[in-house]
Amino acid sequence: MLLEVKNLNTYYGDSHVLQDMSLSVNDGEIVALLGRNGMGKSTTLKSIIGLVKPKSGKVIYQGKDLTGGHPFKVVREGIGYVPEDRRIFPNLSVFDNLKMGIKSGKAGQKASKSQWDLDRIYKHFPVLKERSAQRGSTLSGGEQQMLAIGRTLMGSPDLLLVDEPTEGLSPHFVKEVRDVLEEINKAGVSILLVEHNLKVAMSLANRVYLMGKAHLGFSGTVEELNDNPEIRAKYLEV
Ligand SMILES: Nc1ncnc2c1ncn2[C@@H]1O[C@H](COP(=O)(O)OP(=O)(O)OP(=O)(O)O)[C@@H](O)[C@H]1O
Ligand SMILES: [Mg+2]
Repeated sequence: MLLEVKNLNTYYGDSHVLQDMSLSVNDGEIVALLGRNGMGKSTTLKSIIGLVKPKSGKVIYQGKDLTGGHPFKVVREGIGYVPEDRRIFPNLSVFDNLKMGIKSGKAGQKASKSQWDLDRIYKHFPVLKERSAQRGSTLSGGEQQMLAIGRTLMGSPDLLLVDEPTEGLSPHFVKEVRDVLEEINKAGVSILLVEHNLKVAMSLANRVYLMGKAHLGFSGTVEELNDNPEIRAKYLEV
């Protein structure tokens, strides 16, 4: 098992937003984490990467306990995080944005299964090569999403946490982003994907977790979810 999240309890003040949340990602998998607004999907990713500290529970990655670790350390262990708001540097060029994704100081860093550099990123994201001299702020939403993913890949993660990558994108870019995630996965990167677009999630994922308010509601394969309209109605359809 690559990632094991066990019984996480996370609070914002008095608000208990993750209640015994558990999930796992096996090596090579794409796992989707789905659910309605405000259930705690982003908080689950933030609790894994270390942006919020869980009060209890465990985050075990490649057998190592990373619970509550600083994001910098968690990233160095080989987990990449693409946040919902993308965090592009608007005044830097695409090229410089990508360079920001290189982890500083190789010492103490584990070798990843899937090594990425600029050439490889440009091969997978030709649009970033075309626009390499352009400022981040001049990219379309879809291009910015590609840049956010590409920049995170520059750190050569073994596991990518991606929060709502297709949100607000045109149908063209929804497909582009979907396809690029599939390619990255085929190249050896495991993915934990939070996604509102059910079609995208179901077409990519091996397994699915559905969140109810603050807790896990369902876990199973894509086929099991397909065959279970009651579960979909309970946790997904509004
Ligand atoms: N920084 C914060 N401070 C206080 N409450 C927060 C904070 N961030 C999120 N919350 C609350 O925690 C709960 C879970 O939020 P979270 O962002 O994890 O949900 P989500 O499933 O990602 O939702 P969405 O689909 O809308 O992105 C929500 O009730 C939200 O209002
Ligand atoms: Mg969210």
